[in-house]
Amino acid sequence: MELLSCTQNCLRCPVAFLLLAVAGCSALRLSVPSPVIHGIRGQPLTLPVHYDVSMSTSSIQIIWILERAQVPARYLITSVNQSVMPDLEFQHKFTLKPPNASLLISSLLLSDEGTYIIKVNIQGKTTVSATQKIDVSVDVPVSKPMLQMEPAYGAVEHVGNVTFKCLVMKGTRVMYQWLKDGVPMEDTSSYVFSMNNDSFTIVPVTKSDIGNYSCLAKNFISEMESDVVTPTIYYGPYGLRVFSDKGLKVGEVFTIDTGESVRFDCSADSNPPNTCAWIQRGNNSTEIINYGPYFKLLSGKVRHKTVDYLCRAYNNITGRGEEMQFTVIITPIDPEKLSQVTSSLFPLAAITGVSLLIILSIGLLFVWKRYQLHKAIHWKLQSRRPSTEYRRTPIFSGHEDAMNDFGIYEFVAVPDSSLPHRVPGLASNILHIQDGSCTIYEVIQHVPETQQDDSHS
Ligand SMILES: *[C@@H]1O[C@H](CO)[C@@H](O)[C@H](O)[C@H]1NC(C)=O
Ligand SMILES: *[C@@H]1O[C@H](CO)[C@@H](O)[C@H](O)[C@H]1NC(C)=O
Ligand SMILES: *[C@@H]1O[C@H](CO)[C@@H](O)[C@H](O)[C@H]1NC(C)=O
Ligand SMILES: *[C@@H]1O[C@H](CO)[C@@H](O)[C@H](O)[C@H]1NC(C)=O
Ligand SMILES: *[C@@H]1O[C@H](CO)[C@@H](O)[C@H](O)[C@H]1NC(C)=O
Ligand SMILES: *[C@@H]1O[C@H](CO)[C@@H](O)[C@H](O)[C@H]1NC(C)=O
Ligand SMILES: *[C@@H]1O[C@H](CO)[C@@H](O)[C@H](O)[C@H]1NC(C)=O
Ligand SMILES: *[C@@H]1O[C@H](CO)[C@@H](O)[C@H](O)[C@H]1NC(C)=O
Repeated sequence: MELLSCTQNCLRCPVAFLLLAVAGCSALRLSVPSPVIHGIRGQPLTLPVHYDVSMSTSSIQIIWILERAQVPARYLITSVNQSVMPDLEFQHKFTLKPPNASLLISSLLLSDEGTYIIKVNIQGKTTVSATQKIDVSVDVPVSKPMLQMEPAYGAVEHVGNVTFKCLVMKGTRVMYQWLKDGVPMEDTSSYVFSMNNDSFTIVPVTKSDIGNYSCLAKNFISEMESDVVTPTIYYGPYGLRVFSDKGLKVGEVFTIDTGESVRFDCSADSNPPNTCAWIQRGNNSTEIINYGPYFKLLSGKVRHKTVDYLCRAYNNITGRGEEMQFTVIITPIDPEKLSQVTSSLFPLAAITGVSLLIILSIGLLFVWKRYQLHKAIHWKLQSRRPSTEYRRTPIFSGHEDAMNDFGIYEFVAVPDSSLPHRVPGLASNILHIQDGSCTIYEVIQHVPETQQDDSHS
């Protein structure tokens, strides 16, 4: 029976096999869930232990011993069956509740650190024993660290160094970790860490070191992060740019129209903000025309059509500067356009004038002709009765001028004088030729205004 259970146990726990084999084929299995336990000073701590016995037992003995470096091992407490026998020195400190082998430590002191050893003896037909160890550390929790920065007023890029110090008031075995913008910092060549990492220096600072720094202080039982500190780093100016509110910019050439008032702005990445000086460049001379973030150019007041300017950005803390040259081309679009307009206006005006003149003269001519026609018809109607005169006057059949022929025409057969002179509807249009013995045709011209005259006749 014993042998069978032993083999079963040994099969279940091959690691313990050797131990058990050495201790004789034992029916005792002793285990600790965690071989290392971090305790907090002032707080109670339990050292949990489990053991299995698979044989008929008469007595169970539990012994706890504390081992510390450079100090002789110390007996703490023991129990046989249900009776507990503490070391009287630690009577109230350690508690054991057999058959539970776990040890309770009432209130941890820093001096309670060490290796706790448990030995369990089982007495049956034979006596078997087992031993386990638990390393216990005792720490004080860290308090919230304070982060100090030197120099507090900031540092100039590429010149100054900034040192951060993490101060922790309480806490044992404190380890320090540095975070930049919440991310653990990598060790780089410009960082110099102290031995225990409680401080570090950036040598020298650059613009890229701008960020939110914090330190994380921690030990086995706690961790606390400091407030964030942002170093002031003076840098720049970088990336100087000049831009205008009007006009066309191609590269560094601005094209603006004559008469326009254009504002030029400079911007650069700089801390503190840079100042700008605006310089006009002649062929041989330079002239500072303005200080400040912008200047206004009144293109009408510039003598030359192409002017070179220089914008000089300056950071008075870093002592650095950056320049940018740009060219302003003032396009004389307006005068050109004006001259174009006038030059194209002249022939146009001439054409218009001439056309007007022609139309006017045609109109006049027409009026005159009409007047002439009136006169002529009057004359004709008056001179129609005497046939001799009619025959003798070829003026109306003769067509010297087409302008005279204006009107509506009809052919009319001139009837014999014997026939009644009536043609219905055309009565007013029939001309009476008194001495006509043969049929002749006459072209009768109707001029709307002359109808009245006809009917009168
Ligand atoms: C422990 O208890 C068992 C019975 O449960 C008994 O036989 C044995 O003698 C006891 N041991 C001691 C040391 O009292
Ligand atoms: C032994 O005691 C500890 C602490 O009181 C407890 O957590 C554990 O469950 C106990 N073990 C057994 C087997 O009763
Ligand atoms: C920054 O640190 C370097 C190296 O320690 C040192 O040479 C330099 O003088 C320091 N600069 C300032 C402004 O303290
Ligand atoms: C100090 O911090 C750096 C960077 O986080 C790390 O590489 C190094 O191991 C730390 N040293 C100690 C002693 O904690
Ligand atoms: C640093 O912190 C400030 C305020 O806490 C925040 O406005 C800023 O965005 C942070 N900077 C970075 C780089 O995270
Ligand atoms: C520079 O010189 C050129 C030729 O000598 C002249 O045409 C131009 O107007 C000059 N520009 C200025 C700004 O004086
Ligand atoms: C510029 O100045 C130099 C000497 O100062 C002179 O020799 C040269 O002729 C000048 N050029 C113009 C365009 O004024
Ligand atoms: C530096 O420039 C800032 C503004 O750009 C100005 O307020 C400050 O007075 C200047 N400091 C010096 C020492 O000129």
